[in-house]
Amino acid sequence: MTEAGRSYRIASIPGDGIGVDVTVEARSVLDRAAELHGFGLRWTEFDWSCERYTETGRMMPEDGIEQLADFDGIFLGAVGFPGVPDHVSLWGLLIPVRRAFAQYVNLRPVRLLPGTTSALAGRSADELEMVIVRENSEGEYSEMGGRHNKGHSGEFVLQESVFTRVGVERIIRYAFDLARTRSGRVCSATKSNGLIHSMPFWDEIYAEIAAEYPDVQSEQMHVDALAARMVQQPDRLDVVVASNLFGDILSDLAAAVTGGLGMAPSGNINPPGEYPSMFEAVHGSAPDIAGKGIANPVAQMLAGAMMLEHLGEADAAQAVRGAVEKVLAEGAVATPDLGGESTTADLGAAVTAAV
Ligand code: NAD
Ligand code: IPM
Ligand code: MN
Repeated sequence: MTEAGRSYRIASIPGDGIGVDVTVEARSVLDRAAELHGFGLRWTEFDWSCERYTETGRMMPEDGIEQLADFDGIFLGAVGFPGVPDHVSLWGLLIPVRRAFAQYVNLRPVRLLPGTTSALAGRSADELEMVIVRENSEGEYSEMGGRHNKGHSGEFVLQESVFTRVGVERIIRYAFDLARTRSGRVCSATKSNGLIHSMPFWDEIYAEIAAEYPDVQSEQMHVDALAARMVQQPDRLDVVVASNLFGDILSDLAAAVTGGLGMAPSGNINPPGEYPSMFEAVHGSAPDIAGKGIANPVAQMLAGAMMLEHLGEADAAQAVRGAVEKVLAEGAVATPDLGGESTTADLGAAVTAAV
C-alpha cells in the first residue's frame, strides 16, 4: 500500500473460460466498494492463459513470478481449457504461483445465503456454514515420481506424496487459531486406514497440536465418512482441515451443499505476508458454459471481498458481502445456476449498484 490516499496494486489474471466473465463483474463491484470507502485499487492485467500458451508455448513468461512479487494482491479468474492438457496449464500457472509465494493456506469459506438453495433438501439459509482449511503447498500434489517402461507391458507410474512436519504443523495450527475466532470446533480429514505413511503422520501431528488448544473441540474422521457427514449432518462441521487433495475434493462438496460452485470463494494465503496472497473462486473455467454469459460471478465477488479483508479493508469487504446478500435475497436477478434467467453482466450490475 502507498499512503497519501490509500491504494493497492492488484495483479488481475482473468485466465480462461468463465474466469474472464466473472472477473470483469467482480472488479466492477470491488472498484465501487473502494470508491465508497476512500481507497484505490490499481489493477494491472495479465493475459496469462491457455490462449497465451497456444501462441507462445508458456502459460506465463519465464519471469512471471518476479512480475507478480511486488503486488499487494493477486486476483485470479480460472485456468484451464480444452486443447491444453490440464496438468500443463495448471502446473504452468496456478500451482507455481501458490508455491513460489508460500500460499500454504487455501481458505475456503462457504455459507448458504438467503435466496439460494442447497442441493440438500430442507436446509435453510444460515443453517449451513463451514470453512475448509486446505493445505496448499505440498501433500498429494507433487512432481515427484515418474513414468517407466513406457509402451511396454511392464509400464507403471509412481506419484509420490510429500508431507513435511513444518507443512503439516502450520496448516493444522492455522485451523485451530481460526476455530477460536468461530465455533471453536475443528475436524481433521484423515485416511490413515488406507494410507500407511502420510496420514498416520498427519494424525500424530494433529493430536500434538490439538493438545495445545484444550479450549477447541477437536475430532478427526476418515475423509470418506467425512464426505457423508458433509451431506447428512453438515451442521456438525465448522472448521475442516485437510490435506491438499482431500481439501480440494471436500471444497467442491461443501460448495454444492451451500448453493453451488458459483457461490464458493477461496483465498490462497501467505500468512506471514512476505509474499502476495491470491484470491479466486473455488470453481474452474467451466468450458461447458464459457462464452454464454451465464456464469454466476458471486464466488469471484466473494473472493474479492476476502482480498479486501486481507488488505485491511474490512468495511469495504463487508459492503461487498452485504450487496451480494441483498441482491440474492431479493431474488429478482439470478443466473441459471441459481434458478433464474439473468446473465453474468446483469448480476454484476445489480451487485455493483447495491454496494
Ligand atoms: P468447473 O468448476 O470449471 O466446472 C464444474 C461444473 O460447475 C460445470 O458444469 C460448470 O458449468 C459449473 N460451474 C462452475 N462454476 C460456475 C459458475 N460460476 N456459475 C455457474 N456454473 C458454474 O470444473 P471442471 O469442469 O472440472 O474444470 C474445468 C477446467 O477448469 C479444467 O481445465 C480444470 O482443470 C480447471 N480448473 C481450474 C481451477 C482454477 O483455476 N482455480 C479450479 C478448478 C478447475
Ligand atoms: C482448485 C482446483 C485446482 C486444485 C486445480 C485446477 C489444480 O481444482 O483450486 O480447487 O486442485 O488445486
Ligand atoms: Mn478444486
